Amino acid sequence: MNKAEEYSQPMGLDVGTSRIVVARSAEGQYEYDAQLNAFLTLPYSKLTVSLLQRENVFHEVKGSEIVVVGNDAQKFAEVFHAETRRPMLNGLLNPHEPHSMAVLRAIVGKLLGKAAFAGQKVYFSVPAPVPNEKSGIAYHEASIRQILTELGFEGTPIEEGLAVVFGELGGSNYTGIGISCGSGLCNVCLAVLSVPVISFSVPKAGDFIDNQAAMVTGELATRLRVKKEQDFRLNGMTGGRVQNALTVYYAEMIEHLVETLRSHIASTQRLPKLDQSIPLVLSGGTVLPKGFLEHFGQALRATDFPVRLSEVRLSPDALNSTARGALMAALC
Ligand SMILES: Nc1ncnc2c1ncn2[C@@H]1O[C@H](COP(=O)(O)OP(=O)(O)O)[C@@H](O)[C@H]1O
Ligand SMILES: [Mg+2]
Repeated sequence: MNKAEEYSQPMGLDVGTSRIVVARSAEGQYEYDAQLNAFLTLPYSKLTVSLLQRENVFHEVKGSEIVVVGNDAQKFAEVFHAETRRPMLNGLLNPHEPHSMAVLRAIVGKLLGKAAFAGQKVYFSVPAPVPNEKSGIAYHEASIRQILTELGFEGTPIEEGLAVVFGELGGSNYTGIGISCGSGLCNVCLAVLSVPVISFSVPKAGDFIDNQAAMVTGELATRLRVKKEQDFRLNGMTGGRVQNALTVYYAEMIEHLVETLRSHIASTQRLPKLDQSIPLVLSGGTVLPKGFLEHFGQALRATDFPVRLSEVRLSPDALNSTARGALMAALC
């Protein structure tokens, strides 16, 4: 029996465009396990399959193709100079990707194992709608729930921004603003005593920065992504072409996020009376570069903000915040 199968408590699952993360609680500690939400295909041959098996590479055979999945897909992409493909796009199942469900099923199955008993609880993250846009959230949610049901779990969706509130804002009685900036989306939730009051998502996040910066520099988006993750910092137009392009689109993303947040809160009529100022916490891979918090703070201060903020801070564990929050919701 492996670790996943022995565990019979509720779990939290972050189904992100880039990464899928599971959170478990063991003796008062949280434990995480993650896989890249990516794959690549190789032509089927018996020899290749036996080599992959021998090397313990995470893969599945689908007709005439071998699908290499998760973290191993990235390793193979580097070896073969190929691009990985992704089952999700902008926070939801990618409608143009025929392998999307099979790959998600494989990754979720690997991370969670089978349920220890029928109906073991899993809370999984789903995005909030992008304002004024049609969305396929209901289909996406039903598909993830279906995968969980097949493994014997009872799946419950939780909006990603609310999961961040659960994961980060226990100290303020789950009152405040939780934001997760990922690759496909930024998800935002303003909650009061754990009740979501405003939630929405913004379609400018890490992928937007990579794609735009790639377009203006003539580089590949995946290369820009690697550079961004390795050594980018938000300290102005002081570097080379790539640094400057990333700076411009990071600034655009942050300004768009702050502006959407401001206008949403300002136009919400059912906003409860907040006697006290509330905290705002930022999480997700896109908040990691040095200078992000300062830049976000400057954008906030540029014009009046409709609620008083007691603090604006980064999650100390930005890549696991959503999974932890989903777990905490499942344990309530
Ligand atoms: N150290 C880093 N610096 C800048 N961006 C990063 C870093 N690490 C991850 N990212 C970016 O964060 C995004 C993924 O964030 P994550 O919260 O894991 O995403 P998702 O919820 O979309 O799965 C990607 O756009 C990735 O390039
Ligand atoms: Mg995410």
